[in-house]
Amino acid sequence: MSKRTLAIIAGISAAAGAATTALIFSSRSEKQALSSAIPRQAPPSAPISAHPTPLKDIVAPVNPNGLFQYGFPGPVNDLHPTLSTTSAFDRRTRNPAWVAEHITPASLAASNADRKHSYFVEDITIPAKFRAKLSDYFRSGYDRGHQVPAADARWSQDALDQTFLLSNMCPQVGDGFNRDYWAHFEDFCRRLANNYPSIRIVTGPLYLPKKDPDDGKWKVSYEVIGNPPNISVPTHFYKVIFAEDGKTGGNVSLAAFVLPNAPIANDKPLLDFEVPLEAVERASGLEFAAKLPAQRRKKLCEEVHCTVIVRDYIDRQKNLMGQAPGKRPTSNSWKA
Ligand SMILES: *[C@@H]1O[C@H](CO)[C@@H](O)[C@H](O)[C@H]1NC(C)=O
Ligand SMILES: *[C@@H]1O[C@H](CO)[C@@H](O)[C@H](O)[C@H]1NC(C)=O
Repeated sequence: MSKRTLAIIAGISAAAGAATTALIFSSRSEKQALSSAIPRQAPPSAPISAHPTPLKDIVAPVNPNGLFQYGFPGPVNDLHPTLSTTSAFDRRTRNPAWVAEHITPASLAASNADRKHSYFVEDITIPAKFRAKLSDYFRSGYDRGHQVPAADARWSQDALDQTFLLSNMCPQVGDGFNRDYWAHFEDFCRRLANNYPSIRIVTGPLYLPKKDPDDGKWKVSYEVIGNPPNISVPTHFYKVIFAEDGKTGGNVSLAAFVLPNAPIANDKPLLDFEVPLEAVERASGLEFAAKLPAQRRKKLCEEVHCTVIVRDYIDRQKNLMGQAPGKRPTSNSWKA
């Protein structure tokens, strides 16, 4: 690994023999060091662009854009706003690319819905060929893991129901992750409403390379569920958190986290999973805060304790859903 590249280890070293997984990016300070080494004003003869504009008087004998007479290949993002979520879909993996939500103290305080009336549903706004299907998850061993949590949308039954669209789901490891550490992490996000009047959270999957212990090469490997295989199983999940101060043009406290899609011990500090926002951007190919100037950015985890509070799954169900819990779900009764 070169000196200019910083690797954030996002894997859990606790897992015996786990290969190292990294988010690779160049840090801001290194970037500044690099750009300050480049002269402000390039000499007039220096080539500026790696892709020189074609000379105007050349008449091309070919027309690559002629492809579009047959249709534009994509990618298509299937942007889908609902009451409680806004998502973009990745047709290749049949998972969302990102799902955004907005929570406030008032939205979390309202309790007008009950998840026992909600059902997982396929998202028919996505063409059938690319849609995630209920049958793909059936007996896969994975939870249909909400990206925007159901518990964040109890302010209306319709809002809650819409979090059950499969376009808000990814296959998540149940025990030790979706029903445990990840749920504690979601609870941490809700607790931010004690400190901030408005919080935006973007959640989504990652498919990160990991170092093959046999040949030392970085490779991406993930399971695909369904028969025939349809839905990719992410190796990791990210959340990007924007805690707003409630003023127009005000300050925004940012934090980004990447967690492996694997059991995580409850005593693992949440801060172990904090990464620079840029690391999530490089790993996902997405940009989250391009319009937020540096002077309005603050660091969330310098303002609040970024820690999880571990509560038993059954207690949590009782508290979040305001109803008596049933038995702890088996692997077939998928948690949200
Ligand atoms: C996977 O997708 C294909 C193509 O849409 C479909 O024919 C197949 O039924 C899907 N698999 C399952 C288990 O639904
Ligand atoms: C934003 O934070 C800075 C300190 O980092 C502070 O001086 C400024 O007043 C804040 N802006 C607003 C709108 O609160």
